Amino acid sequence: MTTDSGQQRIGIFDSGVGGLTVLRELYRQLPNESILYFGDTARLPYGTRGAAEIVQFVREIMAWLVEQDVKMVIMACNTSSALAMEMVQAEFDIPVLGVILPGAQAAVHQGKRIGVIATPATAASNAYRNAILEMDNSCLVWQVSCPAFVPLVEQNRIYDPYTYEVAREYLAPLIQQRIDTLIYGCTHYPLLAPVLRSLLPVGVQLIDPAVRVVAAAAQELELLGLRNAGTALPTRFCVSGPPQQFAELSVQWLGCTPAVEKISLPAVVRSPVSIESAE
Ligand code: DGL
Repeated sequence: MTTDSGQQRIGIFDSGVGGLTVLRELYRQLPNESILYFGDTARLPYGTRGAAEIVQFVREIMAWLVEQDVKMVIMACNTSSALAMEMVQAEFDIPVLGVILPGAQAAVHQGKRIGVIATPATAASNAYRNAILEMDNSCLVWQVSCPAFVPLVEQNRIYDPYTYEVAREYLAPLIQQRIDTLIYGCTHYPLLAPVLRSLLPVGVQLIDPAVRVVAAAAQELELLGLRNAGTALPTRFCVSGPPQQFAELSVQWLGCTPAVEKISLPAVVRSPVSIESAE
């Protein structure tokens, strides 16, 4: 049991390196907070999986993070946020933030013709479209599913000519609709910023939901009296797949080689509440 809860870590998770885009925002906005990063690299990509499977993965990760005594969780994964937010809120008694609402909020403040690039699961869930239209029903929303992006980022093929080729294809319908705003609807995609910017008309505003979700996390910590008054501990990185691979890939965004632990997630049986509500 921790005596000063401000000193507990914030838990953040993604399927792989995408969550590093949220982690770097945490370093920028909340430099005193200690972080536990989990990448479910043994099971990525999430975005081409079915909803029930994604919900179960998130349930297992959440249970493990709670066991690690984190004080808050940021789902640094749009796919998890789009599909598992309800389950998380029903089953876990800890502050949890997802990236969809902050991303939608940032977009409606920015423009009216909004494009969303996302994983197939996030796009199919319509989570962004619904959130945006609920906030401002005068907005127009176009969602494009981009299944090739996550594997390309995880294979470190960002500057590969093939990446430019698929990006051009994914962006074409959005450019044709003359979008003024584009949401990175997957935390891996800001890592493709140089490619995407080179293909988009200059006026298009790019929205990284990480900026707002971290601002929201800062507010919530303040409100709950959970800000860390001391200095941050080194980030703890944990993955379910090969740690070396994660360390080698993430060094370019972290600026140093992280020490990475491999962990096995305990299997979690669905609670009676979720069984009832799913039937
Ligand atoms: N980075 C995640 C997201 O924001 C997951 C991508 C994946 O594993 O497909 O959706």
